[in-house]
Amino acid sequence: MNLTISRKSHFNAAHKLYRPDWSDEENEKVFGKCANKNFHGHNYDLTVSLTGKVNPETGYVYDLGKLKDIIKKEVEDYLDHKNLNLDIPEFKNLNPTAENITILIYDRLIKYFKSDYKLKITLFETPRNFVEYSG
Ligand code: NI
Repeated sequence: MNLTISRKSHFNAAHKLYRPDWSDEENEKVFGKCANKNFHGHNYDLTVSLTGKVNPETGYVYDLGKLKDIIKKEVEDYLDHKNLNLDIPEFKNLNPTAENITILIYDRLIKYFKSDYKLKITLFETPRNFVEYSG
């Protein structure tokens, strides 16, 4: 019997979506306002979910206190109040779209969980736009 537990988190970050190999016109056509050269910010809302069996000794699927600490170290400390394009090496040559940020978060977290857990990342870039990824 598998159950899913989740922890919510939050970070603010700036970005722009832009391909240097495209003209300004092409960038604006594809990325719209997100191509604004001087960057803009988002309030990102994150949900990290773990699916697995209840440990009969603890009654937990996973200790949410531990999950909180892992998210703080790997996501909040790494991304909060950063300029994603300039501060985060993974986005030096990769657009920090919600999709790519979600993959980055998944990759930073998955190493903590054995194969008996399924990890799912849900990232809201705006209240209405969100991405889900589970590997
Ligand atoms: Ni944006």
